[in-house]
Amino acid sequence: MPMKPLIDAGTIAARVAELGRTITNDFLGKDLVIVPVLKGSYVFAADLVRHIELDVEIDFLGVRSYGDQEESSGVVQITTDLSSSIEGKHVILVEDIVDTGLTVSYLYENLVTRQPASLKLASLLHKPARTRVPVEIDYLGFTVEDVFIVGYGLDYAQKFRNLPYLAVLTDEGA
Ligand code: IMP
Repeated sequence: MPMKPLIDAGTIAARVAELGRTITNDFLGKDLVIVPVLKGSYVFAADLVRHIELDVEIDFLGVRSYGDQEESSGVVQITTDLSSSIEGKHVILVEDIVDTGLTVSYLYENLVTRQPASLKLASLLHKPARTRVPVEIDYLGFTVEDVFIVGYGLDYAQKFRNLPYLAVLTDEGA
């Protein structure tokens, strides 16, 4: 599948380190629960937590979004739930990409009912051109155009998650 590099590993690392420092400053003196949404955000979250200099707990949410490979339908099922309560805790939900915003707004609504002390959102990428539900991203890596992105955890048909950089899938030569 042809692809074009979009954001190199060094640029990603610098931005992720910056986000980690900002989060550290924003939550000084507080305990934090980091909730990566599987699978796409696992690489971003693994790098991000290593730049957060606080006591953090990590807990995962697994979701399945119904729709075809490139389009989410907004019908989201939690396939793996958190392993402990977030009531009274400061929580950051970590996503790979906010595309239509449907997945993250569903998860946000769900987590808010569990009464965390605060609930913020970190996302590596945002594709504002495709917004269907406006979402406020508290810690954003990069804004991207309306293109399909793979690498650094993001997949196409479960492949390319292991690319160390972000790339755009193109249909050149298809
Ligand atoms: P949303 O519900 O439309 O915001 O979609 C969110 C999910 O769709 C993301 O967490 C990704 O798993 C997937 N997704 C959306 N755009 C892309 C992309 O460009 N590359 C890879 N996955 C994507």
